[in-house]
Amino acid sequence: MNRAEHIAIIMDGNGRWAKKRGMPRVKGHEKGAETVREITKYCAQNEEIRVLTLFAFSTENWKRPKSEVQFLMKLLERYLKNELPIYLEEGVRFETIGDLSPFSDSLKNRIAFTKESTANQNRLIQVLALNYGGRDEIVRAANRACEKGVKINESNFDSFLDTPGLGEVDILLRTGGEMRLSNFLLWRAAYAELFFTKTLWPDFTPKELESIIKNYKKRERRFGGV
Ligand code: FPP
Repeated sequence: MNRAEHIAIIMDGNGRWAKKRGMPRVKGHEKGAETVREITKYCAQNEEIRVLTLFAFSTENWKRPKSEVQFLMKLLERYLKNELPIYLEEGVRFETIGDLSPFSDSLKNRIAFTKESTANQNRLIQVLALNYGGRDEIVRAANRACEKGVKINESNFDSFLDTPGLGEVDILLRTGGEMRLSNFLLWRAAYAELFFTKTLWPDFTPKELESIIKNYKKRERRFGGV
């Protein structure tokens, strides 16, 4: 039976969730952050899941109104601060992928502190993709290899990615009804099983994730074989 070791999620639909309720878009992000907590806890308590990668901010998201970008940055910093006791209680190690260089010093420090403080936790690795683009990460990896004078191949490439050792994505899920990858995890998701749900991210529940995992277990994965 397929093992769900690495789950990756494109968390879409926060804005629509808020709009439907006549609230500003940022309220959807706030509620979305609560869903992040619930889904992370569920994954930490499921022994089979080793990595949960969440698309929190893409390289394209800077194009949003300045006030929304600022809100997301503040929300992220607040989330990481509040979350530390929960990470420690649930055994979650915090990691990121993406280019952190444009973020404020205060957010960068919070990210570094959270990584250090959770480095020995071993039930789940929660990876936030921040200022992340799949092509951007591949180009960065290729440049790192180049700088070291290493000739890249399919086996050694992972060691040059933003956070090495996360492994292949098993389940790639997108909420919010759109059916596209939006430049997420292009290298690691080469053989991922894809799932799309119309549920908007703030409404997504551990129960729905559980049913997706059940469905995944029934799929036949051939990895190009017969
Ligand atoms: C997509 O919804 C969501 C984002 C661009 C940001 C994801 C952020 C969160 C889930 C909350 C904060 C995260 C953390 C880790 C604290 P959208 O705004 O594109 O929704 P729409 O398609 O309905 O407009």
